[in-house]
Amino acid sequence: MSERLPKTNQATSSREPLLAVDHVQIGYNVDKKLNIAVRDASFEIFAGEKMMLLGPSGSGKSTILKAVAGFLKPVGGRIVIAGRESLEPEPDRAVVFQEFDQLFPWRTVEDNVAYSLRVTGRDKREAAATAKRYIEMMGLSLAADRYPHQLSGGMKQRVAIARALALDPLMLLMDEPFGSLDAQTRSRLQREVHEISERTHVTILFVTHSIQEALFLGDRVVVLADAPSHVQEIVDVSGADDPDSEEFITLRRHLRQLLAEDEQDVHHAVFE
Ligand SMILES: Nc1ncnc2c1ncn2[C@@H]1O[C@H](COP(=O)(O)OP(=O)(O)OP(=O)(O)O)[C@@H](O)[C@H]1O
Ligand SMILES: [Mg+2]
Repeated sequence: MSERLPKTNQATSSREPLLAVDHVQIGYNVDKKLNIAVRDASFEIFAGEKMMLLGPSGSGKSTILKAVAGFLKPVGGRIVIAGRESLEPEPDRAVVFQEFDQLFPWRTVEDNVAYSLRVTGRDKREAAATAKRYIEMMGLSLAADRYPHQLSGGMKQRVAIARALALDPLMLLMDEPFGSLDAQTRSRLQREVHEISERTHVTILFVTHSIQEALFLGDRVVVLADAPSHVQEIVDVSGADDPDSEEFITLRRHLRQLLAEDEQDVHHAVFE
């Protein structure tokens, strides 16, 4: 695969953000009335960064991700990606969703990955070879010929990640991709995504409502307030990988305070 430049090189070679979300307002039409879900969101993501979007349920995390993906148009502000205003969904922003049914049920693991490459113009042989490589990277080689119904939830999410990475996107957009997995599988996949991002320096926008996940995976965390939401704070968590470290504990406390969740939600978010 094409390895990207190390983060440090990118930071010195360009100070332009890869993604700029600039005073964005997003709403939904309900009964011919515009309901504002995101009142004012601004943040920037630099190449190679892992940015987490953290907020309570209904705070507009998925809404922002869908707008970056091009599925929703903001009613105010601008979203700029690599100098272009985000208009339509394109494979330069590959999306991984929470649902296990995002794969084509009638295609094997390998065909699921290869098919998106074929659609984006790769020839058959190249698509198959690239698919193989990413399937191997996600530890799925033994399941390459299986169909989605023959996979566990964790394996399906691995295929979805392999498919997204194989597109070599500018950004990987992930909307609670591990939200429906058991705790053990979830932390294993978190470690895998962490390792892959260290290796490939792929830029990630990752939606979560888990403080632990935000701290473990993120370089920075955009904390959203309740809907119609705004950005409360952007927190640098790049030094907080080890859950036993003082820094992790301090940042966890800070994020908990920012979220100001009720007691039950806090425990759910922190200890899941
Ligand atoms: N298709 C839709 N039509 C109308 N309103 C919607 C639609 N999708 C989301 N909303 C509203 O927009 C707000 C933000 O929703 P969104 O799904 O972005 O929240 P979220 O932060 O992703 O929540 P969760 O953590 O539960 O996934 C909510 O008030 C929700 O009811
Ligand atoms: Mg959501």
